[in-house]
Amino acid sequence: MSSDSTSLQSSAVINEAVQTLRDGGLVAFPTETVYGLGADAKNPEAIKQIFTAKGRPSNHPLIVHLAAPDKFDQTHIDWVALLAPWVRDLSDEAIKLINSFWPGPLTLVFKKDKSVLNELTGGQDTVAIRAPSHPIAQELLRKFKGGVVAPSANRFGKVSPTSAADVRNEFEGMFDLMVLDGGDCEVGIESTIIDLSSGDKAVLLRPGAITPSEIFAKTGVKVYQPGEVKANEAANEVTADLPRVSGSLKAHYAPTTPLRLYAPGRVLDALSEFPDIKSRVAVAVWDSESSLSEDGHPSAHFEEVEVPSDSSAFASLLYRSLRDLDQQGWDLILFPEPPSGEEWDGVRDRLQRACFGSGPSSSSHDSN
Ligand code: TXA
Ligand code: MG
Repeated sequence: MSSDSTSLQSSAVINEAVQTLRDGGLVAFPTETVYGLGADAKNPEAIKQIFTAKGRPSNHPLIVHLAAPDKFDQTHIDWVALLAPWVRDLSDEAIKLINSFWPGPLTLVFKKDKSVLNELTGGQDTVAIRAPSHPIAQELLRKFKGGVVAPSANRFGKVSPTSAADVRNEFEGMFDLMVLDGGDCEVGIESTIIDLSSGDKAVLLRPGAITPSEIFAKTGVKVYQPGEVKANEAANEVTADLPRVSGSLKAHYAPTTPLRLYAPGRVLDALSEFPDIKSRVAVAVWDSESSLSEDGHPSAHFEEVEVPSDSSAFASLLYRSLRDLDQQGWDLILFPEPPSGEEWDGVRDRLQRACFGSGPSSSSHDSN
């Protein structure tokens, strides 16, 4: 995020946000991934308000956001001391991941300290923690001097917001929400989540900008896919029936316009699911390819929208594009299938879920 983004929000406004949090209110704030809907992690009533505002089931745990107290000494942060009030065991692997990737878009799941509220963990004995790098998030957390729980600032199952205006639209008319404006989010999709709570194996719970290979290259820590870990080793053995990662529900991040993916060069195939031919179809095409070079369809009007063929640039624009296209009254939105390769896993995951939940009755697809 550009270094001048704090200037979008004065210190006086951030101080007011800190006071709102202390008073048990909610504050939406920017992070480098998506905007969060924040509340004091030590205030059960404030946490309950988050679930109500989002329409989120109360057994979906929240991420605690922390910041180092001194903004000038980010390289020598004593994370062990900072985490002590929240976490039971901090393994050597955990410390390696923290030193390499915090502050940044990486969430780690630990065995929780007994003082951590059940309201935020959904009754589980683990807690998810991350240290966001966005300067406004850091200033807010530093001044608040405590943990702030913050799910993405969207209604449950909907597209996560990547600008202050998106957050306002999401909760418009529902309640008066203070929104800190930090511009557009740079990463654009939610943080990578790694589960370290089972002891010996780090397990990927949600793909994001930070990939298992990058983690291995920087720390030597191997991150396993959930399927690679035997069921009896998984940290969630006791609570296996709980939806530990709400993004893991099939339908999530969904626009109300139907959305589908098309294989390279197969735009017309993607229409076959819609026999009563859709007349206005927005087709996202890679900026590296000149055009669709399709012959078209007798009763469908295609309009091409270029999307970046670089995975980070694509992620950064994904939710923005979905929200904008959703507002434009298309009958159908088509996106190209992301290429294979780990750097595309986060984007592919979000796009597939967005397809599954998309359409006018998208809320009824949500498994809740
Ligand atoms: O980038 C992000 O992580 C954003 C920004 C605002 O920080 N936050 C975010 O929060 O995506 P949310 O609540 O939309 O998604 C957090 C995910 C949830 O799906 C939740 O189930 C999972 O983290 N989670 C939280 N605590 C957990 C735990 N103890 N074990 C496993 N998963 C957990
Ligand atoms: Mg979310």
